[in-house]
Amino acid sequence: MSVHTPAGFDRPVTTATFRARKSAGQRIVMITAYDVSSARLVDAAGVDALLVGDSLGMTVLGHPSTLQVTMDDMLRATAAVARGTSHALVIADMPFMSYQVSAEDAMRNAAAFLAAGAGAVKLEGGAHMADTVRRLVEAGIPVMGHLGLTPQSVNQLGGYKVQGKDSAAALALLEDCRALQEAGAFAIVVECIPAELAALASAELAIPTIGIGAGVGCDGEVQVFHDLLGLGGEFTPRHAKRYAELGAAVTAAVASYADDVRRREFPAEAQTTHLDAAVLEEVRAAHARGTAVRRIAGE
Ligand code: KIV
Repeated sequence: MSVHTPAGFDRPVTTATFRARKSAGQRIVMITAYDVSSARLVDAAGVDALLVGDSLGMTVLGHPSTLQVTMDDMLRATAAVARGTSHALVIADMPFMSYQVSAEDAMRNAAAFLAAGAGAVKLEGGAHMADTVRRLVEAGIPVMGHLGLTPQSVNQLGGYKVQGKDSAAALALLEDCRALQEAGAFAIVVECIPAELAALASAELAIPTIGIGAGVGCDGEVQVFHDLLGLGGEFTPRHAKRYAELGAAVTAAVASYADDVRRREFPAEAQTTHLDAAVLEEVRAAHARGTAVRRIAGE
């Protein structure tokens, strides 16, 4: 299969690439990854950025939301993804309460992500997070913002609902976009907002918007690995499209392995190593002698 990628793909993606892509009108492609093997696969597909999303709480760890995800969970995943990536920018999601309590906490935790191999961090929130974003950026830590449906605030939002639907909420979101840009964020994820609002934000901002459930007018798109590949069970969020049915393919492949093992069809000759005939003869003779001695000794 041939992989179509834009010019400049041979160079590693940085935050400067994000700006350049927006100026050139080239859309930015981002997908989540949580381990070395998925990172290798999606990096080879030519995406621009891998988000080590705190969605790993649900997709990989089986939690009910992102609120249970810890710094340790995210650091281990980030290091694994970084080891599997040679082209895309690796962006680590800062987990719940790793940046909200104080800017000092945010600095220490964001620095740990860079040490683990990330090239940038992402955090949720608008104007109220601007000072923290500014401190991180001034310290040399690239920050991606996240507005609209911010899953770490699910309890405050009253569920996973589309945001920015009335004029007050839409204007507040645009204000938040400006505050993040002004604080130095290099891009902003806008999740589950009306397409018209996302298009307005994208047209106004100098930094790229990365949409998920925000229409086609954003400067880029991010999706969850498991949603795109049919690895999340029956449910597909409205904003996702299944490009493959890997979950069904994995279950069928493992069922066929189990069947082969039970019928003694696997391992077959191709997966088997044999003893040299002379060695086998020696082993059998020694084994037989040993058995006889043990019998005489009454074992
Ligand atoms: O955690 C995540 O995967 C995310 C994306 C959905 C944007 O934040």
